[in-house]
Amino acid sequence: MRGINITTNTKTYKICIGENIFSDAIDSFIIEQNPDKIVLVMDENLFDVLKEHDLLKKHQYIKIRCTEKNKNIKTIIKILHFFYLQNISRKSLVINIGGGVLTDVAAFACSIYQRGVRYINIPTTLLSMVDASFGGKTGINYKNIKNLIGSFYHPDIVIVDTNFLKTLPKRYFIGAYGEIIKHALIYDTNYLDYLMNKNHDLVELIEKSILIKKSVVGDDEFETKGTRKILNFGHTIGHAIESYSQKVKKTLYHGYAVAKGIVAESWISYKQGLLTEQESEKIINLINKYNLNKKLKFKIDAEEIITMMMKDKKNSNNEIKFVLLERIGKAIPDQTVPKNLIIESLNLL
Ligand SMILES: NC(=O)c1ccc[n+]([C@@H]2O[C@H](COP(=O)([O-])OP(=O)(O)OC[C@H]3O[C@@H](n4cnc5c(N)ncnc54)[C@H](O)[C@@H]3O)[C@@H](O)[C@H]2O)c1
Repeated sequence: MRGINITTNTKTYKICIGENIFSDAIDSFIIEQNPDKIVLVMDENLFDVLKEHDLLKKHQYIKIRCTEKNKNIKTIIKILHFFYLQNISRKSLVINIGGGVLTDVAAFACSIYQRGVRYINIPTTLLSMVDASFGGKTGINYKNIKNLIGSFYHPDIVIVDTNFLKTLPKRYFIGAYGEIIKHALIYDTNYLDYLMNKNHDLVELIEKSILIKKSVVGDDEFETKGTRKILNFGHTIGHAIESYSQKVKKTLYHGYAVAKGIVAESWISYKQGLLTEQESEKIINLINKYNLNKKLKFKIDAEEIITMMMKDKKNSNNEIKFVLLERIGKAIPDQTVPKNLIIESLNLL
């Protein structure tokens, strides 16, 4: 089993990574922590995989239907009520098992119940293994705005077991490369070259992505310095398209929405005189290589998407702020872009 320590100003915790490590890693953590009670919050799609596991036999659990639509306040109330019925305390331990939707909602509930109870994240999608399950951002959507309500609240440990990926539908596995390619583009040209070859070792890939996010988060835990904002490359347009897709009932999975955002924001970076045309084309080719640039199942209403972007948390002075690429491997936050360029980039998609 491999381990990476995440260190921020407020907390240090370990991410354990490997294949078939889940049971041993969780057992030793429980023995070490000796909680007064353990409860599980799990993605309902993981139930069949785990129903015979000791954890489910020994402890109470709640199953959550994990869709973007359900990433809402009703789900939070459901989880909080479960905590209340189970009479958990600050000496208890909550084990969250699922993808990014599950870890975002369950961790948010943990952050507000009794002003904070301890939790473990067990990510079960590739996207949550490389990104969503650590870093401390928790949250839910509100009025079609992604992650509008939430908190910063870290887990006590994260256990990444690639065995969970065996049951993950292929489209979600592929979609994760939206975030993985983003990591390379904002931080590491060597990682981008590594991704050019699609035959990579999964544990090594997960580690490489985790190390990039670790560096960014460690440097700017609460996004106060602004450097953490670079993790939002592709997300200004990506999140707006994702929210719009839900509104028109043609939900586009997060990773694919981020990939669309990367295409549009790379093109904007080129038009703004930052990236070269060759760099912009290299990025689009890589996105295509991973089959992430699929035709959208809905027609984009650029004005409405821009209205949605106006609600983005990174904005200031009533202006949409973008993260753009100065070059491959170097992102710059807080960039304003002329409206006609935003519209043109959306029309490209
Ligand atoms: N907090 C953060 O830092 C952060 C970072 C990136 C993304 N996110 C959030 O993560 C969410 C996307 O997460 P995701 O990509 O993991 O998708 P997801 O949680 O929606 O999971 C995708 C689908 O796979 C199912 N599933 C999960 N694990 C499975 C498994 N092992 N076998 C079979 N089915 C399984 C889920 O039930 C769901 O239907 C978005 O809401 C995004 O905003 C958060």
